[in-house]
Amino acid sequence: MAGRIPQGFIDELLIRADIVEVIDARVPLTKGGKDFKARCPFHDEKTPSFTVSPDKQFYHCFGCQANGNAIGFLMEYEHMSFPEAVEELANHVGIPVPKEVVAGGRQFEDQQDLLDILQEAATHYQRQLRDHPQAQAAVDYLKGRGLSGEVAARFDFGFAPDGWDNLLRGLGTDDVRRKHLQRAGLLVAKDGGGYYDRFRNRIMFPIHDHRGRIVGFGGRVIGEGEPKYLNSPETPLFHKGREMYGLFLGRDAIRREQRVFVVEGYMDVVALAQHGVDFAVATLGTATTRDHLDRLFRFTSDVVFCFDGDPAGLQAAWRALEIALPTLDEGRQASFLFLPEGEDPDSVIRREGAEAFLARQVESLPDYFFRNLHDRADVRRLDGRARMVELASPLLSKIPEGPFRQMMRDRLAEISGLEPQKLPRLGLATTNKVSPKSANRPRAELKKPPSLVRTAVALLLRDPSLAKQVKDPEAIVRLDLPGTTLLAAMLDILKIDPELNMAALIERFRDSEHRTHLEKLAVWTHPVLEQDAAAEFQGTLGQLEKAGREQRTDRLLYKERAKGLNQAEKAELGRLLAETGRSDGVTPTS
Ligand code: UTP
Ligand code: MN
Repeated sequence: MAGRIPQGFIDELLIRADIVEVIDARVPLTKGGKDFKARCPFHDEKTPSFTVSPDKQFYHCFGCQANGNAIGFLMEYEHMSFPEAVEELANHVGIPVPKEVVAGGRQFEDQQDLLDILQEAATHYQRQLRDHPQAQAAVDYLKGRGLSGEVAARFDFGFAPDGWDNLLRGLGTDDVRRKHLQRAGLLVAKDGGGYYDRFRNRIMFPIHDHRGRIVGFGGRVIGEGEPKYLNSPETPLFHKGREMYGLFLGRDAIRREQRVFVVEGYMDVVALAQHGVDFAVATLGTATTRDHLDRLFRFTSDVVFCFDGDPAGLQAAWRALEIALPTLDEGRQASFLFLPEGEDPDSVIRREGAEAFLARQVESLPDYFFRNLHDRADVRRLDGRARMVELASPLLSKIPEGPFRQMMRDRLAEISGLEPQKLPRLGLATTNKVSPKSANRPRAELKKPPSLVRTAVALLLRDPSLAKQVKDPEAIVRLDLPGTTLLAAMLDILKIDPELNMAALIERFRDSEHRTHLEKLAVWTHPVLEQDAAAEFQGTLGQLEKAGREQRTDRLLYKERAKGLNQAEKAELGRLLAETGRSDGVTPTS
């Protein structure tokens, strides 16, 4: 996709756009020194570690290590595709979007078509709930479940009447629209050609993504029937493992309460809201995923799982615990509200009301964790305690390094009677979040001098105009030192487009293996970067050349001893030894 949009256009965008404005419009920034700060929008935190640099045109969070340029920010924060982010930025800067962006972004065009038709369908279903002759049964059903008109309106409930072509006739007025309806999952193509309505005789629950756009539907059969719930199929816009029902509508309440309930069903979310508990979300008939949790933890650090009181609900709770473990750092908490056998949040809150519901005992994740293990291992027996350790260790390994992991380990030691140092070593947690103590890492790095190539790349990144000092990028490649291919690639780019700034230069590496490395260097701090950049860069290049010569000399000397040199190599070694002033090795002329 990136290849379709002219590179020069992207360069120009990133040179002209101001990342401070772009971010400030979405996440209000405050000035601190030469940079701007805010509480990070990508993880939950109390003190601001999200920094935006106007010089670098780059953002960086010291807490979660999120970073990028203006395009990257829009992609992350607004969940935009690359062409969407480019278009958004172009509109912001006020430069016309070349038609490649729109035409080349075929996927983007499709998406907008699908979004439009989904919104039309939601409006259509809502109208049917008001006007359709069969709608009374749906209205009665909702009333029978204790739901008011206000809640129906808040959640944009709709009605799909019985019959095969209600939506088809209502919205599928031409071939293109029918195709869109099908791609949006609302019409099903018949084998012999033509389409029929997917949703029939159902109450329709529109599903919003985090930006409030309707991306799919759930439909509940009115009364008894199979399947009880029908969901939109996976489409380019709708991924069940990612979206959560009620998150968009509940986001302000979740922030206000600093807590979120994760429940199993649409009706649970709706019934809780009916009773004023408006900070609940439901997964869409799938297990809780890491994606779900990462999303929720952007709003609050306190997640409460409240699943049905049945075997499936218990299983879902344990599964949620396993998924939650790797996310538990930086003060995040997960808890569980277990309901009586045969109940779900809907039935409980209807029977006992919000106050009693909210007063129910919540079990913390650590308590649930050890209670479950106690059920599976009899700790009165020595072999039972061993079993407990074996069951617990792989799970504790999932927790990021930090106080929480340490305390869980201590508790395991206490229960099992094993001294903490005798517990099996826990593996490294695989987490993309960085534990807070790694914020100290830059200080550790100060002790050892950075490699020359690293310094050169970092300096060049901060001030791409330094490239003018280099006459021959090829010579750098010939140095054959680690990292020189990247340095040479940067120099190549800057030879042709010397006016790029850091954001535009990094953008050139979006699809490259070097991207992560560059992003790290972009936010790297070191005293060497605080000095006169031009002099430092010149000095580093000089040292690089010297290091390259020495390496080459060593290789030739080694080869000479191992299997001898040809004439050209002998001549080269002679020259090198003279230049480097070294006298080791055999005289090359011998
Ligand atoms: P439940 O069967 O627990 O639904 O399924 P519920 O919310 O209690 O439904 P009511 O109270 O009988 O109306 C929980 C969730 O599992 C998915 C749906 O997302 C549902 O909300 N599900 C369930 C399906 O996708 N298909 C089904 O047939 C049943
Ligand atoms: Mn139910």
